[in-house]
Amino acid sequence: MKLLHIDSSILGDNSVSRILSAGVVQRLVAATPSLEMSRRDLAAEPLTHVDLASLPADTSEAALASTDVLEEFIAADVVVIGAPMYNFTIPSQLKAWLDRILIAGKTFSYGPEGVQGLVTGKRVIVAVSRGNFYGADSPAASFEHLESYLASVFGFIGIVPEFIVAEGVATSPEGRTTAIAAAQGEIAALAA
Ligand SMILES: Cc1cc2nc3c(=O)[nH]c(=O)nc-3n(C[C@H](O)[C@H](O)[C@H](O)COP(=O)(O)O)c2cc1C
Repeated sequence: MKLLHIDSSILGDNSVSRILSAGVVQRLVAATPSLEMSRRDLAAEPLTHVDLASLPADTSEAALASTDVLEEFIAADVVVIGAPMYNFTIPSQLKAWLDRILIAGKTFSYGPEGVQGLVTGKRVIVAVSRGNFYGADSPAASFEHLESYLASVFGFIGIVPEFIVAEGVATSPEGRTTAIAAAQGEIAALAA
């Protein structure tokens, strides 16, 4: 079993999504110590914006690097992603990674019946951190384009992602502590 651990926060040791994604990994490894790990830190080693040369059809070094990202994703049985909210959606570092894994003919296909997701048997767990509150009844609900976006994107390729969410972390120090504790409770209850 292979686990791919991805982080995208720019906040280093102050990152909440990094604390949570590490907690998810710890929980899964405790249940299955034989998990084979791979790690991608998209803030420490950012991928470039996708461009013509980095599309898999090309034979450039950039295209080969994109193929490596895609193959690493396809090879993983479980993918754990730390996803902070920046300006109401995912960081551009994480978008650059997604641009390498949404590839026609590999992870989805267009056919007479429309779009078909081609990814099967993969578990994706996303650890989300956001400063404000975005529940259905909150004033900012319509600004939520992180969880909804990732649910759509992974759904598009055939995956129903699981979310662990810490929100309201920027409202006060107590709000941050409470949000992290609640998310850690969700992690402890995750099926492993
Ligand atoms: C560049 C930047 C943009 C942010 N934009 C938002 C935002 O649009 N909405 C929000 O609720 N919080 C926003 N925040 C707060 C973060 O979502 C919050 O700090 C969260 O913990 C980020 O995850 P991280 O700690 O893993 O980096 C922003 C923070 C930064 C640094």
